[in-house]
Amino acid sequence: MTEKKKIRYCTECKREAMKFIPSVVTIGEFGLYLCEKHFIEWFEHWVEKTIEEFHMFDRDGPVLVALSGGKDSMVLWYVLNKLGYKAEGFHLNLGIGETSEQAQQKVLELGQIIGKEPFIINITKEIGASIPDIAKIFLSPACSICGRIKRYFFNRIARLQGFKVVATGHNLDDEAGSLLFNLINWNEKYLIRKYPVLKEDTKLGLPRKVKPLTLMSEDRILLYAQLNNIPFSSEPCPLGQDAKLHIYKDILNRVEPRTKGVKRNFYLRFIRKYQRLFQSLAVEKQTTMQKCQICDEPSPSQVCLVCKIKLAVQDARQKEDKNDTHH
Ligand code: FES
Ligand code: ZN
Ligand code: ZN
Repeated sequence: MTEKKKIRYCTECKREAMKFIPSVVTIGEFGLYLCEKHFIEWFEHWVEKTIEEFHMFDRDGPVLVALSGGKDSMVLWYVLNKLGYKAEGFHLNLGIGETSEQAQQKVLELGQIIGKEPFIINITKEIGASIPDIAKIFLSPACSICGRIKRYFFNRIARLQGFKVVATGHNLDDEAGSLLFNLINWNEKYLIRKYPVLKEDTKLGLPRKVKPLTLMSEDRILLYAQLNNIPFSSEPCPLGQDAKLHIYKDILNRVEPRTKGVKRNFYLRFIRKYQRLFQSLAVEKQTTMQKCQICDEPSPSQVCLVCKIKLAVQDARQKEDKNDTHH
């Protein structure tokens, strides 16, 4: 016997609620069922509330949004503009073949839709080599170098263009997953810093870092992107992603259907209450930062990582040229 599915009606307008992605339509932890229009309103309301609760930024100051081309950062750029914030986009082309070309294309498409031109930097032009080539020269995993290079350029562009705040598209699944990972491994160093706002350092010229989508789960961000026709690239990075984080995200997503809202509560309770505990327990060892002698960016050593990479790339290229002339 086939069981008849119960029709749900929008809590706000009593029209039939959306059916196509059940886990998203029924916003379990709030006891809500929403139609398209009211889901969009609900989403935007929560983004704004998150920005306000954690004092991320206001409507006066410009915010630089770090765009990877994926759904999270693209939704963030779109929604901040819709809510009336002065949000500009910044994209770093990593030189990872087709994947990077597609990502840049999507960023430009979204820029046209919202009438803004993003800042774009091409790593291959800037450093002299792409992420895969740099990883080969350094004989180290691409992801760890890539993360540090990204951070460098976000900071640099923010400083040079006068942005005091940089926003990234980290979502609830990312944040709750990495919280679980760091708790299980008692990574105090990370738990101290696990908060949706990282304070600016005006002396060093480092911008404030914020995560306005920190309370939005991945499936809701995807639904918002689809309902608003926001272009994004769904190609995963071919150099492999953080496999460990995926395991922890998956654990929480398995528990979620049985205990609605567990992901959100787990993360939110930590940042509202227990994060302070970690901060008071551990004395953070301050690495003394200075300015890089070559590029002036903050660095723990006299020459920063990116300038070291540039020098090593030049070196490797010279050696290649010499080998070529010998043959
Ligand atoms: Fe940086 Fe894949 S996105 S290595
Ligand atoms: Zn409705
Ligand atoms: Zn430097």
